[in-house]
Amino acid sequence: MNQNHKLRVAVLASGRGSNLQALIDSCRSGEVDARVILVISDNPAARALELARKNSIPATVIEAKGYHSRHEFNTALADAVERSGADLVCLAGFMRVLSEAFLERFNGMIINIHPSLLPSFPGLNAQKQALEHGVKVTGCTVHWVDRGVDTGSIILQDCVKVEPDDTVETLSQRILKQEHVIYPKAVQLIASGAVKAPVR
Ligand code: GRF
Repeated sequence: MNQNHKLRVAVLASGRGSNLQALIDSCRSGEVDARVILVISDNPAARALELARKNSIPATVIEAKGYHSRHEFNTALADAVERSGADLVCLAGFMRVLSEAFLERFNGMIINIHPSLLPSFPGLNAQKQALEHGVKVTGCTVHWVDRGVDTGSIILQDCVKVEPDDTVETLSQRILKQEHVIYPKAVQLIASGAVKAPVR
């Protein structure tokens, strides 16, 4: 990573984009010493794209259906990230598992946010899984992305109490609030050099 410039962050998002907005806001306020320089979505209807445009951040759609194979789709994603000159790739509700080739090209440069205290409840519907297991505390995790699904080494976590009358919606809302706190913090830990990608 070039230490002479602000950390350049590319965000990959498939949907609502609230974590994207939290990252943009924290960079703008100076809380995070980084800049969101590109937003990529695989979903043309993603609100994340609208947010990027509203914030004058270049946004691009790369749809899986536009490519013959997963490999070609991942190559297109990787080419776009590389062209942007990003130092860090933040997955923020990106609903596709990146290929090994993508991970190789950006080794030690990809992080993700997940709505549970990993390693509990990886994968989809983490908040529902937490409620079904009857855990009394759950939370959110920012982690490095490796070949597994939500298995990479953990950068930051925060916990959220499960209330007796919680539904998936109410619990998800409270976890999301914490996500918006820890994702920028994790990016700042990387921007400041306090946290480095695990060597493999
Ligand atoms: C968040 O709950 C995040 O933890 C998960 O996907 C959701 C994305 O939400 N990976 P948003 O698009 O950032 O609002």
